[in-house]
Amino acid sequence: MESRRNFLKLAGLSGLTTLVTLKGADAIADCDFRQTPNQPLGPFYPKEFPIDTDVDLTKLGNRSERAKGELVIVSGVVTDDFCKPIKGAIVEIWQACHTGKYNHPSDTSENPFDPDFQYYGTMRTNEKGEYFFKTIKPGAYLATETWRRPPHIHYKVSLRGFQELVTQLYFSGDVLNQHDRILQDLQADDQQKVVVDFKRITDSGEEVLKGTFDLTLKRI
Ligand SMILES: [Fe+2]
Repeated sequence: MESRRNFLKLAGLSGLTTLVTLKGADAIADCDFRQTPNQPLGPFYPKEFPIDTDVDLTKLGNRSERAKGELVIVSGVVTDDFCKPIKGAIVEIWQACHTGKYNHPSDTSENPFDPDFQYYGTMRTNEKGEYFFKTIKPGAYLATETWRRPPHIHYKVSLRGFQELVTQLYFSGDVLNQHDRILQDLQADDQQKVVVDFKRITDSGEEVLKGTFDLTLKRI
């Protein structure tokens, strides 16, 4: 009797193992890997990092004022070529403040600098490959006299064993998107992967633009 019970236990376990294996195989077969397109790093990747680099870019260090501009919460999952979440990936973002000014010596525009804005943030993805940032909607700025860049957030995602991803996120519906040379340089289906549909929600009494931007890394 005991041996039969053990057998059933083993059979149950082996059945479970098969199920898990099949599920894993199905997940890979179903994986519609859509590589996040690379885009230029741009000239404004920080030369010097702010005094704090956490996920809340709306507050800088101990300053009491919040950065000016529309609040944005962006989150997503970093996955590999098999659609599996990547834990521990380093996600960096940098962007202009609400006026379109970067915290960088190469930004010589006269757009006012926001001293309360953090301009850069970084975090590692959690067990589920997730990341998130609280920031503000960046302002548009002139790249040349005839080219105004739409609001965008720069991303760099890296982890040993994977190709580094450098890209940019855009806000859907912005009229400047159609004329942006960097965004329009991408194929139409690649453009869709970097244009995020932000929804206006109320969070703790504050109006926030909330969006999801998933990212993929390719193994080396
Ligand atoms: Fe930029």
